[in-house]
Amino acid sequence: MSERLEDIARALVAPGKGILAADESTSTIKKRFDTIKLASTEDSRRDYREMLFRATEGMKNYVSGVILYDETIRQKAKDGTPLVDIMKAAGSIPGIKVDVGAKPLAGPTSKIETVTEGLDGLRERFAEYHKLGARFAKWRGVITIADGLPSWNCVKANAHALARYAALAQEAGIVPIVEPEVLMDGPHSGHDIDECYRVTEWTLRTVFRELYDARVQLEGIVLKPNMVIAGQKSAKQASPAEVAEKTIKCLKETVPSAVPGIAFLSGGQSDEAATQHLSLMNASGPLPWPLTFSYGRALQAAAIQAWGGKPENVAAGQRAFTHRAKMNSLAALGKWNA
Ligand code: 13P
Repeated sequence: MSERLEDIARALVAPGKGILAADESTSTIKKRFDTIKLASTEDSRRDYREMLFRATEGMKNYVSGVILYDETIRQKAKDGTPLVDIMKAAGSIPGIKVDVGAKPLAGPTSKIETVTEGLDGLRERFAEYHKLGARFAKWRGVITIADGLPSWNCVKANAHALARYAALAQEAGIVPIVEPEVLMDGPHSGHDIDECYRVTEWTLRTVFRELYDARVQLEGIVLKPNMVIAGQKSAKQASPAEVAEKTIKCLKETVPSAVPGIAFLSGGQSDEAATQHLSLMNASGPLPWPLTFSYGRALQAAAIQAWGGKPENVAAGQRAFTHRAKMNSLAALGKWNA
């Protein structure tokens, strides 16, 4: 495979393919396993992810790349094969989450706002991850809408960190997924879709200005944004058609056409809503960039439930995963129907 950043980025958003975000931190995967009353151990995390990566049909046909967590990129399957080799054999590009999480932003809004950390030593970590096989990476900045928030300080600090990360990734020959997430879930999610639009536009404009200042080549990134959508606690929910229309409008206003592709996060949408919104956007006409998925929860929730942590349910878990991957592949082509 080509090592050029543009080629890797384009492969990640190839027609009908998208990204599996399997980079849950140890504390987040524990929350997912709690729903099936499974203890989160090194072995159970390995078994779960091995099940997904060995879902050959789903991986080969619909998944371009997998975002891994530090533990997983070093892990071996039960039979001793590195997990990275299993996904490569299925045609997927290994990726790695490199941020170390969203931490309270010092100052008056520290109870709500965060800035994502992980820049210290990142050049050296990228060099190691490249040796371990990673050809793309992810960093997630988090923006919370609340009374009078986000603050400019929060938008700017997160955009700046994303740009510094992206420049370091490209220096290492790794495609940065640039993920500024305006949250739709959590305790502060009473905002409507228009507020989400306003904040997403502001955030994306700020991110692209910072990427320019850091001299990041836009041809060698993938943008991973939220959709423009009402907060989960809003009394005023928007229709799927409105989500699709406002998301496209916001992206057209802010994302240069040099960007090779956009891969959305699911952000707490139901599995079907995440699929439907993506399909509506792709069906709406020619766009400046391919739009696809980089889903975590919306690709995995059904698989975790079907598996339930039991070896005898591995095939059922793989079927559930493959089904969602196939539905989202259709959506990436604008061809999904309820
Ligand atoms: P969700 O699709 O569950 O939002 O996860 C995607 C992701 O990678 C968040 O950082």
